[in-house]
Amino acid sequence: MNYQVLARKWRPHNFTEVVGQEHVVKSLMNALQHDRLHHAYLFTGTRGVGKTTIARILAKAINCENLQDFNPCGECSVCHALDEGRFLDLIEVDAASRTKVEDTRDLLDNAQYAPNHGKYKVYLIDEVHMLSGHSFNALLKTLEEPPAHVKFLLATTDPHKIPVTVLSRCLQFNLKRLLPAQIATQMAFILQHEQLEFEEPALKLLARAADGSMRDGLSLLDQAIVFGNGKVTSDAVSNMLGTVAQQPVEDILTALAAGDASTMLDKINEIANLTPDFADVLQQMLQVFHRIALVQQIPSAIAQDFDAEMIATLAAKLLPEDVQLYYQIGLLGQKDLALAPDPRIGFEMVMLRMLTFRPAANRSNSIKPAPSQHAIPQAHAIQQKSVQPIAASEPVAAVSPIVPVAHHQSPDIRPVQTDRLQSTSNDWASIIAAMGITARTLELANNCALESIDDNTCTLILDPAYMRTTRSEEALKRALEAYQGKPLKLIFKANKPTVDTPAVQLVKQREDRQQAAVDAIASDENIQTLKEHFDARVMPGSIEPV
Ligand SMILES: Nc1ncnc2c1ncn2[C@@H]1O[C@H](COP(=O)(O)OP(=O)(O)OP(=O)(O)O)[C@@H](O)[C@H]1O
Ligand SMILES: [Mg+2]
Ligand SMILES: [Zn+2]
Repeated sequence: MNYQVLARKWRPHNFTEVVGQEHVVKSLMNALQHDRLHHAYLFTGTRGVGKTTIARILAKAINCENLQDFNPCGECSVCHALDEGRFLDLIEVDAASRTKVEDTRDLLDNAQYAPNHGKYKVYLIDEVHMLSGHSFNALLKTLEEPPAHVKFLLATTDPHKIPVTVLSRCLQFNLKRLLPAQIATQMAFILQHEQLEFEEPALKLLARAADGSMRDGLSLLDQAIVFGNGKVTSDAVSNMLGTVAQQPVEDILTALAAGDASTMLDKINEIANLTPDFADVLQQMLQVFHRIALVQQIPSAIAQDFDAEMIATLAAKLLPEDVQLYYQIGLLGQKDLALAPDPRIGFEMVMLRMLTFRPAANRSNSIKPAPSQHAIPQAHAIQQKSVQPIAASEPVAAVSPIVPVAHHQSPDIRPVQTDRLQSTSNDWASIIAAMGITARTLELANNCALESIDDNTCTLILDPAYMRTTRSEEALKRALEAYQGKPLKLIFKANKPTVDTPAVQLVKQREDRQQAAVDAIASDENIQTLKEHFDARVMPGSIEPV
C-alpha cells in the first residue's frame, strides 16, 4: 500500500477539524447560517496554514445536501464526491500552472452554464497571484457580474500581487500563522490515531521548526517518523533537525541568570556532544529572550505557548534591561559565530560576553578604572554631562564597558534594583521587576512594602498617603497572578510601611547617586587640574548622574 503523507491524509474535512483560524471559520459558518454568502472569497496567509483546506471545506459546505450545524455532513453524495476529488461543479485551478489568458477565458466561459450536480459551481483558484494581467482582466469581468450559481474562492500567499480591482470584489480573509502549541497538539493527535509512540519534547522541537506552517510541521513529522523508525523521540528529532531541545537552552539561561559560569560551560559542553548547529542554538536563545522581554512587559503575552511556564520562570530571574542587553549581544554574536575558529568557541564567547557584561555584574564586580591617566578633557565637555556614574557605591569615574543600558537614564519610577545575586523570590523589588508592570500599576507597587506572599495570598502594606485606584489595584492583582501562575488574593493594609518601599528606596538611591556624582566631580583630578590651570568652574546644578 502506498504511504500517504500525513499532511494529505489529515487534511481537515470540515470546519470543526480545522486547527486555529477561528476568526475565519466562524465568519464562514455565520454566513452559511444566515444564507449570506458572498460571491467571491479571497483567502490569504503563508504556506500551509489552511487556505486550500478551508476553501475546499467551504466549497463542500455550499453544496452539501445535509449541512450539520453548518458543517458539511461528510455523508452525502456531494461530500463524498468532493472528498474524492471528483465533484464536477468544483473547478480547481492552480493558477501557477495556468497563467495564460486563454486558459482563464476557457474556464470562465463555462461559468454561465448551470451546475451539473450541486447548487453552485465553485471556482477555486489557488495561487491566484500567479495569473497574468490579461487573465486578471478576464476574471474581473466575471467577478463583476457573476451568474447567481457561481462562487469564486481564491487563495494566495501573496495578496500584494493581486490587482486592487480584484481585491475590492472579494471578501478577504487573512489566515494566521499557527502557534507552535497548536501545531504540536495536532501532531500529538495524529500520532495517537496512527498509534505511533512519541515524546512530547520532540513534538515541541518539530512544531518550532515548522515556523507557523501546519503543512511544514506535518512534513517534518513524516521525516521524523522515518528517521526514528516509527518512534518520535527527542534525541532523534534533535539529531535530524540539528537543533537542540529547549531544556539545554533553558539550563544555560538559568545558569546565566545565576551568574554561574561553570554550570553554563558544562551545559554548553553537553550540547556540543549532540553535534548541534550552534547558530541555531543562538537563534533559540534570541527567541527565548524576545519572549521573556514580552512577558516582562505584558504577562499574558505568551500565555498560550506551551513553554509559557519556563519563560515566566526565566522572566522572574532576569531584569528587563539585562534581557535587552543579552538579546543585543546574542544578535551581534551571530556575526561572530561565522568568524570564530569554530562555532562552539564563537557560541561560548557570546555566552561569556553576556555573563561578563551583565549590568549587575558591573555593579558588584570591580571593573575599576585604570589609575587616573585620563587625557585632560575639553573644558566644555565637563560642563556637559561627561561623567558616567555607574552606581552609588562605586567610584563615579569608572567607565562602564557597556553603554546600551538605559535604566539609569529614565526619569520615571522604576523598581529599584536590588543585587540579584542575593535577592530571594520574596524580594518585592525583584517581583516587581519580573512582573514587568508599568505606569500607575508600577507606581502603586513601588509604594507598597511586601508583608507576605504565598501560594494563595499576597499581603501588601500601602502608605495611606498614597492615592490608589481600583484599576491599578486590579492590574496589580492580575500581574501578580500571572507571575504566580495561579489565582491569588491580594490584600492591601493601609499602614505606614516599616521598611522602605521601592519608591522610597528609589528616592534615596537617587539622592545617593546625585551626591556621589557631585563628590566625584569635586575630587576628579582632571577637574582639579582644569580649575587650577584654566580657572574653570563647574556650573552649579549642572552635575547629573547619567
Ligand atoms: N489550520 C489547519 N488545521 C489543520 N490542518 C492544517 C491546517 N492548515 C494546514 N493544515 C495541514 O496542512 C496541509 C496543507 O494545508 P493547505 O493546503 O490548506 O495549506 P495552504 O494554506 O493552502 O498552503 P499553500 O500556500 O502552500 O497552498 C493540510 O492538508 C493539512 O494537513
Ligand atoms: Mg494551498
Ligand atoms: Zn454533505
